[in-house]
Amino acid sequence: MQQININTSFTVFQSKAELPQEVQSLMEQAIEIRKKAYAPYSKFRVGAALLLDNGKVVLGSNQENAAYPSGLCAERVAIFQSGAIYPEAKIVKLAVTAASDTNETKSPIPPCGACRQSISEYEFKQDSPIEIYFMGESGEVYKSDSIKNLLPLSFDKNFL
Ligand code: THU
Repeated sequence: MQQININTSFTVFQSKAELPQEVQSLMEQAIEIRKKAYAPYSKFRVGAALLLDNGKVVLGSNQENAAYPSGLCAERVAIFQSGAIYPEAKIVKLAVTAASDTNETKSPIPPCGACRQSISEYEFKQDSPIEIYFMGESGEVYKSDSIKNLLPLSFDKNFL
């Protein structure tokens, strides 16, 4: 028998004010688009901002539906939009922020499992890591150098 231990690591910033200027600006755009989320059911608003290697920023917010599973998370709205409009561009950075209408989220809110899988697909597609920054409404920001920290042992095209 053998045991495999997988280490993941994150950088913690005390607040968004500590972020490098370019990332801070990306996070500000995620905050702005978060406010436009369509989240009448959960009252939980998420904003995502992608910086591409062509300099473009692509934004997304969560879009809910009365048939609950038909809605989509902010991260995937942004990623699929980016893939549709700029299929050749590489995603360099992703900033995510989440805020509830009912209580203040002060700790970093990580992307859900389905979003991690989608981000992972694009890392494989472009063959370069995506820096991921995530936070709540206020407080610390976590940074991951790649989706691999958030989704170790990922399923990818090599298994097909
Ligand atoms: N949500 C996101 O947009 N991203 C995530 O990674 C987690 C959850 C949305 C989906 C739903 O509209 C609301 O947050 C509550 O789950």
